[in-house]
Amino acid sequence: MKHTKVWIVDFGSQYTQLITRKTRELGYSSEIITLDECRTRFQNNLLPECLIISGGPQSVFEDKNDYTFMFGHRDLPILGICYGMQLLGKHFGGVVEKGLIGEYGHADIHFTSLFNIPNCPQTMSVWMSHSDHVSTVPSSFDIVMKSSNQLVAAIKHRDRPIMGLQFHPEVEHSKQGKLVLDYFYREIAKIKTDWNAEEMLVEALNMVKKVGDKKVLCAFSGGVDSLVAAMLAQKVLGENLYCFFVDNGLLRLQDYHHIKKLQEQTYLKIEVIDAKKDFYDALKGVDDPEKKRKIIGKIFIDIFEAKVLEYQEKFQIHFEYLLQGTLYPDVIESISPHIVGGKSVTIKSHHNVGGLPDRMKLKLLEPLRFLFKDEVREMGMTLGLNREWVFRHPFPGPGLGVRILGAIDHDSIRMVQESDQILYEELLEAKLYHSTWQAFTVFLPVKTVGVKGDGRAYENVICLRMVNSSDGMTANWSHFPHEFLEAVSRRITNEVKGITRVVYDITSKPPGTIEWE
Ligand code: XMP
Repeated sequence: MKHTKVWIVDFGSQYTQLITRKTRELGYSSEIITLDECRTRFQNNLLPECLIISGGPQSVFEDKNDYTFMFGHRDLPILGICYGMQLLGKHFGGVVEKGLIGEYGHADIHFTSLFNIPNCPQTMSVWMSHSDHVSTVPSSFDIVMKSSNQLVAAIKHRDRPIMGLQFHPEVEHSKQGKLVLDYFYREIAKIKTDWNAEEMLVEALNMVKKVGDKKVLCAFSGGVDSLVAAMLAQKVLGENLYCFFVDNGLLRLQDYHHIKKLQEQTYLKIEVIDAKKDFYDALKGVDDPEKKRKIIGKIFIDIFEAKVLEYQEKFQIHFEYLLQGTLYPDVIESISPHIVGGKSVTIKSHHNVGGLPDRMKLKLLEPLRFLFKDEVREMGMTLGLNREWVFRHPFPGPGLGVRILGAIDHDSIRMVQESDQILYEELLEAKLYHSTWQAFTVFLPVKTVGVKGDGRAYENVICLRMVNSSDGMTANWSHFPHEFLEAVSRRITNEVKGITRVVYDITSKPPGTIEWE
């Protein structure tokens, strides 16, 4: 990525990505970096136009770092958010106190008589999440906002472009938060916008251009990320791009239609590899979710390895690059300080993040690695892709493998495929498809008693899972009308052989995950 204007130093807040997204929405290029990375860049005389210090779970009382390296630059605009504001308070000679009560959740804040921000009401409702607070502001700062508990909510340096906010302007609950951020960038930092859809596209195309005339292999799932990556790359690479779509037999019925449409309606060269048998054979009798994921991931790799060899031997085509639709959250998750006991905890191993093994000697081409999902969708629209392709729900790499609990067999695949298709059709019919982040059915290997026709049935259960989310990290179940749920349930029990009961999963994430396995 080109040199970004705004650097966001990540102190571990769960909202750091949101700061970046809001900053980009306001039109400024921005990236998340660690404190170590920030220090290294400053030591090498690389400076941003503006620095944001994020919130974080730690307490300034335990923080022994010296921040002179960044706070010492007189003209550098700095915004400290939550923990960031407390660091400012401490560094510039104020007093930070350990909070006895703290403020969590909604809080009302108001401007002091010194200050206001155009279009912001005198009193605003914002999102707070802190126990420590700046009790005495440094003498070079003014208090510009206070909370209804009379705690300091925002401070501003008198002579330097520095501001501190105790609340989180980046979250939706802070209704005027974006106005506050906008005010900071425009009026205090005085930086110029440089980030928009066109700019994003140019950046991504430039990344692809570096490949030159080499051959590129794309592991193509048809999901929005790989589709946008491939469409974008195709513009530069033309015939040198080869997309391979693996039919692992664990796809939804809609995926088969989708891939056919893409073959017919785009210029992409998509080869469908029928590997159903390989996957079914390897998964036979395996019921442990992690084992299933590992097996599925390994077969994908084996297939691509074999494909690379086949192209070398049969067509003398040597692939040098692997095109992947890796997104920014995948890249920064690996550097985030969200760690337990020095190591990230694996809740589920997402097989498609790691890429192919080193022995294949393929270089990675990841033109979307600086983008968020929303930005990728925007890019898809800029590239002229169909709206229905760009706004499809996410689908996990291991596919229905993680939606059939326990061991997989042909019958359970059929039941989950048919029920999923019914749910999909009903969502479209009820115009609810875009009101949910993800909607799917899960096969539960339990038998329950029912009545079908005049007889007793002893058959399986399908669970409906529909969640609302903005990034998949947290989610809540979708509150859909009972009439809709009833229609789906009736169709599934009537039309899917082997199912007598339909249940609805009303678990949020956390504690549940979105997928069942
Ligand atoms: P969980 O189940 O972890 O899912 O709450 C969060 C989001 O990630 C998707 N997911 C995956 N995506 N490979 C993927 O590409 C995987 O192995 C995988 N597991 C879960 C899930 O569908 C949801 O959108």
